[in-house]
Amino acid sequence: MLEEGKLYVGTSRNPDDSINKGEYLDLKYANRHGLITGATGTGKTVTLQILAESFSNAGVPVFCADVKGDLSGIAAIGEYKDFLEKRATTIGLDPYEFQEFPVIFWDLFGEKGHRVRTTISEMGPLLLARLMDMSDAQEGVLNIAFKLADENGLPLLDLKDLRSLLNYMAGETEKLSAMYGNITKQSLSTIQRGLLVLEQQGAENFFGEPALKISDIMRTTNDGRGAISVLAADKLMMNPRLYGTFLLWLLSELFEELPEVGDSDKPRLVFFFDEAHLLFDEAPKILIDRVEQVVRLIRSKGVGVYFVTQNPLDVPESVLSQLGNRIQHALRAYTPREQKAVKVAAETFRPNPAFDCFEAITQLGVGEALVSTLGAKGVPSMVERTLVRPPASRLGPITEPERQKVMAVSPVAGQYDTDLDRDSAFEMLARRAEEAAKAEEDERRREEEKEQERPESRRWTLPGYGDDDDEDERGRAKSSRRKKSSRSRPGYQRQTVTETVIKSVARSAATSLGRALVRGILGSLKKGF
Ligand SMILES: Nc1ncnc2c1ncn2[C@@H]1O[C@H](COP(=O)(O)OP(=O)(O)OP(=O)(O)O)[C@@H](O)[C@H]1O
Ligand SMILES: [Mg+2]
Repeated sequence: MLEEGKLYVGTSRNPDDSINKGEYLDLKYANRHGLITGATGTGKTVTLQILAESFSNAGVPVFCADVKGDLSGIAAIGEYKDFLEKRATTIGLDPYEFQEFPVIFWDLFGEKGHRVRTTISEMGPLLLARLMDMSDAQEGVLNIAFKLADENGLPLLDLKDLRSLLNYMAGETEKLSAMYGNITKQSLSTIQRGLLVLEQQGAENFFGEPALKISDIMRTTNDGRGAISVLAADKLMMNPRLYGTFLLWLLSELFEELPEVGDSDKPRLVFFFDEAHLLFDEAPKILIDRVEQVVRLIRSKGVGVYFVTQNPLDVPESVLSQLGNRIQHALRAYTPREQKAVKVAAETFRPNPAFDCFEAITQLGVGEALVSTLGAKGVPSMVERTLVRPPASRLGPITEPERQKVMAVSPVAGQYDTDLDRDSAFEMLARRAEEAAKAEEDERRREEEKEQERPESRRWTLPGYGDDDDEDERGRAKSSRRKKSSRSRPGYQRQTVTETVIKSVARSAATSLGRALVRGILGSLKKGF
C-alpha cells in the first residue's frame, strides 16, 4: 500500500462493489490544500486521523484541533476491533498494523495540554476586533490604540495592558484625536466592556507570555516522523469565536514567520481546520478576503491547510476554489438547502463516467468518501468512490493518565506551564504614573522647604491654589494646601504622565526595537526582517 511520495487514503470501489485501486494523496501537492466534508457521523474525524498519521510517518508535522476529544487516541497504539479488521480485509490492507504517534497536546486553558498563549500585540487589531465583534467605529479606535503602542514600542502582552492603554487614552482623547483621528470616550468604554466579557469567557488565559513558538509545532522526532500537535478544543468550542480567532492567528503567524520555499517534495506543515464553518460564520468581507489571501500565499511557504466541515457551503467560494485535495463523505439531501450543498459538492469534482456524483454523495456508507486529489502537474484526479483505510492508532479518546504521560515526555514539557509577567504596557504606564506623582510630590516638598527658608515669602500667595489664607490661620491652611495642591492641578500630573510615557517608550523603542512594529495581512506582527 506504500507508494513513494504518496499517502494511502483508501481503496476505491467499482459500481459493482468490486475493488478498483488504491487512492493516494500526493505529498508533492499536499500544500495545495484540501477539504474534508460530510454529515455528522460519516467519518470526517477518522479521515483526519488517518491523514495525520500518514503525514507524520512521511516526516511532515501536523497541527489539528480535537473538537470532541475523540482525536486524542492518535497518541495511543491502535486496538483490535472487528469492524476495523473487516475494513482492512475489504480494502486489501495487509498487514493491518497498529502504531502510536508522536503527539504534543496543547490547550488554551492549560488543562488537557501545554498552555498555548499569544500576546495582544501579536494578535493585532483585526483579529481582536473580530474576537470582540466590534463595530467599525470601535475597530477604528482599537487600530489607533495599536498604532500608538506599536509606534512607541509599548508592549501589549495581556488584557490588562490593553486595558491600561485604553484608560490612558480616555484621559487624552482630545490630544490623541488631533494626532490620530476621532477617538470617543464612548468607543473606549465599549471596548473596555468587551475586554471584560472576554476575560469572563476565559480569554485571559490565552493572552500573555510565554507565547507559543511556531518552531514548537514544526518538530520532527529523531526517527524522522512529524510531530502531531493536537489542540484540545472541547472546552474552547464553548467560545466558538475564540476558537476561530485562535486558529486564524496561528495561520497568520505561520504565514508571517515562515520563509518562502517554493515547490518541494512535501509540505513543511499541515494544518487541519476542524469545524471550519466557525471561521466564516458572520465574518466581515474584509476578513474573508484576508483569509483567502493568506490561504493562497501560504502554499509557497510549504503549509497545507485542510478545512474540515459538515457542509461545503460553509466555506466561501473564494477559499473553496483553492482547496485542491477533496474528500467528501456522505451528505443528506432532503431539504432544498441540503440538495444545494450536495449539488455544489458534486459539481466541484472531476466527473467519473462510471457513476453519478450527486447520487453517490447521498449513498456513501460510513467511512466511505468521494476522493479526488491533485496528481501530476496539479491536475485533479477523476473522482473515485473510496473506502477510507482504518486508523493505525486508537479510535476514540485516550484516558487522562495516558494524556498526562504523553505530556510528561513531550519535548515542550515545562516550557509553557508557568505564566511570565514581563514588563509591559500595564507596568510601564503604572510606573510612569507613580513616578509622575512622586515627582510632583518632591517638587511640592522642595517648594515648601524653600518657603520655610525664606519666611518673608510667606506673605506671597498664589491665588486660587489655597495659599491666599490669613497669616493667623497658617497651620490649618498648610494642611488644606497640601490636599488641594494635588487635587486642583490635575492637568499638571496627567501632562507629566503623558509626556514621560511617550518620551520614555519612544526612547526604549529606539534602543530595543529600533523601529515601529510592522503588521502583516491578518494584522499579526511581521518578523524576521
Ligand atoms: N475509515 C474508517 N474505518 C472504519 N470505521 C470508520 C472509518 N471512518 C469512520 N468509521 C466509523 O464511523 C464512526 C464515526 O466516524 P467519525 O467520528 O469520523 O465521524 P464524524 O464525521 O467525525 O462525525 P461528527 O461530525 O459527529 O464529528 C467512527 O467512530 C467509526 O466507528
Ligand atoms: Mg468528528
